[in-house]
Amino acid sequence: IADIQSDIDHELVSKQQIDAKIKSVAKQVSIDYADEPPLLVAVLKGAVNTLTAFSQALSIPVQMDFMSLSSYGNGTESTGTITVRQDLSVDVRGRHILIVEDIVDSGRTLNWLMGELRDRGAASVEVFALLEKPARREVEFDVKYRGFEIPDEFVVGFGLDYCEEYRNLDSIAVLKPQVYQGEHA
Ligand code: PRP
Ligand code: MN
Ligand code: MG
Repeated sequence: IADIQSDIDHELVSKQQIDAKIKSVAKQVSIDYADEPPLLVAVLKGAVNTLTAFSQALSIPVQMDFMSLSSYGNGTESTGTITVRQDLSVDVRGRHILIVEDIVDSGRTLNWLMGELRDRGAASVEVFALLEKPARREVEFDVKYRGFEIPDEFVVGFGLDYCEEYRNLDSIAVLKPQVYQGEHA
């Protein structure tokens, strides 16, 4: 019988910790953007859980749009190439953008997206990233709204996947070694 919990080795961030952090970031963002409600741009697929919880915790009206980007494919190592699977549906020219992302790993995905949105004429571009993995960072940029720093382990849950699965886990966890069949995580 397939069961998520039985595949988990250990938990890194609990559902309660995630909820509390997202609420506190949302409170700050609601203050910072009170005069100019932002366009939230969520990076699919990983950001979907963070976007849902975060947007519902905001006290200001926001618009939302989505861009589906892929750099990891099915493995645990970034391919280094950003693929646009699905583009935004609105023109970002003159808009104040707040990108919502699940994790900054090498930083390549967000570095590319921030540059792309600025090239398209956004008035401002900031980032809320739930997780950051400093040990893996290759590209530097400012993450204005930050969640948790995590160690260099391949994590799943709250939107993050391994081979497209485990996104629906409600916490952030590391899978048992045998789940990463043959691949060195
Ligand atoms: C993951 C994650 C971030 C990105 C971070 O997405 O959700 O978007 O990688 O890695 P980076 O900082 O090294 O660029 P992935 O490519 O796995 O696509 P997904 O969100 O659809 O799972
Ligand atoms: Mn992603
Ligand atoms: Mg992924």
